[in-house]
Amino acid sequence: MNARRKILLVFGTRPEAIKMAPLCHALRAAPDFETLICVTAQHREMLDQVLNIFAIRPDIDLNIMRPGQDLFDVTTHVLLGMRDALREHSPEAMLVHGDTTTAMTAAIAGFYAGVPVGHVEAGLRTYDLRAPFPEEFNRQIVSKVTRWHFAPTELNRSNLLAEKVDPAAITITGNTVIDALFWMLDQIKADPARAARIDGFLGERLSFDWGNCPFVLITGHRRENFGDGFLQICQALKDLARRHQDIHFVYPVHLNPNVQKPVNEILAGQDNVHLLAPLDYEPFVRLLQHCRLVLTDSGGVQEEAPSLGKPVLVMRNVTERPEAIAAGTVKLVGADHDRIVTGVSELLDSEASYNAMARAHNPYGDGQACGRICDVLRNLP
Ligand code: UD1
Ligand code: UDP
Repeated sequence: MNARRKILLVFGTRPEAIKMAPLCHALRAAPDFETLICVTAQHREMLDQVLNIFAIRPDIDLNIMRPGQDLFDVTTHVLLGMRDALREHSPEAMLVHGDTTTAMTAAIAGFYAGVPVGHVEAGLRTYDLRAPFPEEFNRQIVSKVTRWHFAPTELNRSNLLAEKVDPAAITITGNTVIDALFWMLDQIKADPARAARIDGFLGERLSFDWGNCPFVLITGHRRENFGDGFLQICQALKDLARRHQDIHFVYPVHLNPNVQKPVNEILAGQDNVHLLAPLDYEPFVRLLQHCRLVLTDSGGVQEEAPSLGKPVLVMRNVTERPEAIAAGTVKLVGADHDRIVTGVSELLDSEASYNAMARAHNPYGDGQACGRICDVLRNLP
């Protein structure tokens, strides 16, 4: 092996950045790697928030985000940008993450350029190409061109084996989101001044005593929920807010215009509904720690909340993360008005139902995923 192996990490959206951040730290701290970081900036503001919090300075920034971009825009701009980046930097290997169009397109670029690809968060599947759309397609494409599959769980590994992936190419690592979450929790715990700053920030943004009053934390952005799904979600939140006037509903709203429009049109002005700009990871984790329950269609939040013992209702019909459902701390409610209202009300009204779901466990990792990934990369022939 070369003295220093040149590894290129590629990511572009908020969740990829959060999940790759601890790996950037681990690789940059190891003397045996030359680590290059390329951001596509498929997200701009929401990516930069994460880069700031984790103090990561990219070497390459493709800066592709356009307001209201579609999948054609993202795919084309990432592919052409990656062609130039790979020509200029010639890495020995590249790492992509998960299931975004950045990950899919960067992996294709690696394949075209003959650069071997490592896939972080490999093997998640619903086997329904429309759900989540286009993520299920993206991750299956990434797997096709991946040399090293870093699978978070045993189930993810078995999905890959069923697709005839060479067992020697798969390592079960846990999910790096747990590394990121534990890092963030440690930072908050170790630095009371930092914790006070975050709490002060939240105090300015929220007009209720969020440290003591019960609240539901909400996020949502899935493409397959655009249109009718988001109308149902927002109407359900409006009805819940009226029915449970002693509960607050805190919703940091994703910047996608397909989300902003229905959320602001239907929910603005409701007294106990608090619509916020996307939060930095620090205050978001703080809210996760303090909320009563979580209502989300997010992948990452489904993985973080179980570690903090928070019940999660997932506004999707299928999930590629069934481990916490099997453990009883996550339930699917679809983007369906009645199921959302019933599911949330049951958890708010029944202590027994709540207690049955509120249990801390870590099906997605132990916070050591990045070390395992570094070990594999260090020991390549
Ligand atoms: C993307 C990913 C999705 C991931 C999600 C995480 C794809 C196809 N979608 O969806 O898998 O779960 O990110 O959040 O890869 N915008 C801004 N500023 C930002 C971010 C977004 O203004 O910082 C707005 C822009 O108008 C942009 C639009 O949101 O054009 C859509 O962004 P895009 O990355 O295409 O889709 P997401 O819905 O964010
Ligand atoms: N998150 C955040 N600020 C917010 C909302 C979410 O930092 O206002 C974090 C959250 O903790 C998780 C990640 O963003 O780690 C999830 O991102 P998103 O839901 O956009 O994408 P997905 O995980 O569904 O791909």
